[in-house]
Amino acid sequence: MSTTALAWNPEAEFAALRHGEAPGTAGVYEALLHQGSVGLLDRGDGNPSYGLFSREAIQKAALDTATFSSVTVPPGTPRILPLMADPPEHTPYRRLFGECFKADEIARVEAEVRPLAAEWLDRMIAAGSADFSQEYAYPFTTHSLCVLLRVEDDWSIFNDWSSTMEKLTASGSRNSGNALPAEHFGKIIPYLGKLIGEARQNPGTDPVSRFLAAEIDGSPLDDQIVIGLIIALILAGRSTTASGVTNLVLRLAQNPELQAFLRAHPERISDAMEESLRLDSPQQQMPRMVTTDVTIDGVDIPAGSPLFLNYGSANVDPAFWDRPAEYDLDRPTRPHFAFGRGMHQCPGAPLGRMQIRLTIEELLKRTRSFTLTGPIERDTWPRLSVERMPLTFVPA
Ligand code: HEM
Repeated sequence: MSTTALAWNPEAEFAALRHGEAPGTAGVYEALLHQGSVGLLDRGDGNPSYGLFSREAIQKAALDTATFSSVTVPPGTPRILPLMADPPEHTPYRRLFGECFKADEIARVEAEVRPLAAEWLDRMIAAGSADFSQEYAYPFTTHSLCVLLRVEDDWSIFNDWSSTMEKLTASGSRNSGNALPAEHFGKIIPYLGKLIGEARQNPGTDPVSRFLAAEIDGSPLDDQIVIGLIIALILAGRSTTASGVTNLVLRLAQNPELQAFLRAHPERISDAMEESLRLDSPQQQMPRMVTTDVTIDGVDIPAGSPLFLNYGSANVDPAFWDRPAEYDLDRPTRPHFAFGRGMHQCPGAPLGRMQIRLTIEELLKRTRSFTLTGPIERDTWPRLSVERMPLTFVPA
């Protein structure tokens, strides 16, 4: 006998997070998981979709790319590779992305962006107060991507373009019909074409040069594909990392003891970051398309249904995590799904982690304390972030 999916509306259920009235998403997911592991999200727009909540169901679906396809492109939208591809098409593009985030490349970017982070933090600290999200997290993560791409002088072009794209998609996911309008890609394409020309003349080890040097099925990639890959890097790498930075800085701003502990024990900053990524996962979900009728935990899901893997829920599933809603620095290491699971698992994780760790190291070093001084604004789903975060700083 089939079971009915739970009615689920993330924007409404997480509304209390928007201005900080609720501490996090764990309570909502735990309550849902108590009742079942499959939800139905029906906004009344004729485009209902399913959501998975249990870690086990999410893991199975993430590993079964034949039944849960990543080819989820809304009409009129360019397809982003490797994100919106299944194997075997996905495999060579994904290999190419893996090469862009090798340890020596991350070390090069870290060495270049650390002085920049220091300079920006010093400026905010000297001023005494700042909106940490808008004045640091977003510009800094964009700048870091530009250093990876070796186009740091043009970072404001990337910043303006990517924030426009993000605003256009802020309220939903690509499965809810929220297309990325093709005309907005038109604004960046001539610039990226120029960038490709320059990398051809003067190749290096940056991602654009790697994309140009690659062959797939015996042929080089054409410029349209390379442009798409660069766009994928920017769209996938900027706001996710900025969210990771803001979520942890918010937690520290609200918890002076944790701040003091990490100032005294900087070697624990990575643990603090991993626990923040688990409990306040920046990318709460990723979409899939169900290719064949399936039944998950008794719920029948028809072929053709959009479905969300709620990674944020997997990260607080009490069937796997002890005291899941608690932020616990001493939690025994167990893999969280903040970077996804399976073959689409985030290739940019080393770059994202480096930027979060570096920011906390430099911020703690430069301050005696920092405090929240006014109302915050958060985005909650599909991305959990802090968009406005007024802080005051006491210099070290
Ligand atoms: C804290 C920061 C980050 C978080 C939380 C994050 C999260 C994720 C997640 C959950 C996925 C899985 C997608 C899926 O299951 O469909 C993913 C994929 C991806 N991420 Fe990240 N990401 C972060 C940083 C970055 C950075 C810095 C880059 C690159 C500059 C990047 C590039 C990508 C790409 C290209 C994919 C698609 C991989 C594929 O389809 O094979 N991410 N990310």
